Amino acid sequence: MYSVPKLSEWSAAALDAAVAELRTALSAEAGRVSGDKGLREFHDRWLGRRNGILTQINEEWLKAAPAEAKREVGQRVNELRTLVRETYARKTAEVELTQDADSILKTGKGTSVETDQQWVADLAKRQELVLRAQGVDVSLPGIRRPLGAEHPVIRTMNEICGVFRAMGYSVAEGPEIESDYYNFEALNFPPEHPARDTQDTIFLAGQEAKPARERLLLRTHTSPVQIRSMERQKPPVRVVIPGKIHRHDAPDASHSPMFHQVEGLAVDTNITFSDLKGTLDHAMKALFGSSVKTRFQPSFFPFTEPSAEVAFSCIFCGGKGCRTCKQSGWIELLGCGMVDPNVFEFVRENGYDPAKVSGFAFGMGVDRVAMLKYGIDDIQLLFQGDVRFLEQFG
Ligand code: PHE
Repeated sequence: MYSVPKLSEWSAAALDAAVAELRTALSAEAGRVSGDKGLREFHDRWLGRRNGILTQINEEWLKAAPAEAKREVGQRVNELRTLVRETYARKTAEVELTQDADSILKTGKGTSVETDQQWVADLAKRQELVLRAQGVDVSLPGIRRPLGAEHPVIRTMNEICGVFRAMGYSVAEGPEIESDYYNFEALNFPPEHPARDTQDTIFLAGQEAKPARERLLLRTHTSPVQIRSMERQKPPVRVVIPGKIHRHDAPDASHSPMFHQVEGLAVDTNITFSDLKGTLDHAMKALFGSSVKTRFQPSFFPFTEPSAEVAFSCIFCGGKGCRTCKQSGWIELLGCGMVDPNVFEFVRENGYDPAKVSGFAFGMGVDRVAMLKYGIDDIQLLFQGDVRFLEQFG
């Protein structure tokens, strides 16, 4: 325990050292105080009128000081007195609050701790008190708000776009509610053309008063953003377009009326079918592994000519045939082709003279890719929002 040293030297440095020592002793002793008895002892040691430390300091420091040091010593003694009193007041409050809390816990009633002292307003302590009275243990670990996970479809979309960004493509988007013009007409689907039937379009109701091309629908593919991109930008263009699309399809394990595509479009002078093949071959290898092979089969889309359906060799059986590839050794993934000159006619004014530019386009299903990559056997799982499914991607 601390006892007040006699000062033999009255320099500011010597005074400060003595004060620092006393402060350390004060806070150490205050930290050990508990209960009424400890509080009383603390009071007597530091504030006792006859022999308390403050009284001793007054005698041994202030009164003993030579006249020229009195001011310096007096200032320090005053500060110490305030500090000791505040410390005692704080300890008193703590002891009372602890007793109050214990009493609330035991009897449901508190002992009043109201006094006129400032420290009673110690809000944190009071809140803790109330919580303890309600049976809340504030020392228990808190409830964590779990972090969300990137949805497998979004993750796959980002991955696909990343492959094309690395080849210099930029990313564009377009509206999900689209006009007949962008979804069909400018993509070379003439009105009444049977190719429209393949798209299972969901139309918005109440559009009859509008001219056909302005009628709104839920886009059935991301291809309308090809036109929108060419309206926005003169050639050359290299864009990928991720997005959500809708088709009037009955839901089952492999169909959903809402799903996702990533569209691609490259237009420049001298773009050929070899560029298309090389680009997609690279993309398939980047997405599914360098050993996959790609296969192009003739197909038809009104907005590409020639058109192709692209498949890659089954990543599960290496092409031998298994359940996933329905014994064919191939997994079909996307449609593509060289941009039809009739499509360029719709944006000719913006620099797309079909005699001068050429290009290719492709569109691939994202949900299929996500299912293959993550071994998901039911497309519905992607859209049911079941946390037990989604948290596996965290
Ligand atoms: N839009 C076509 C579809 O949804 C895919 C496609 C895109 C085909 C671009 C060719 C070029 O089936």
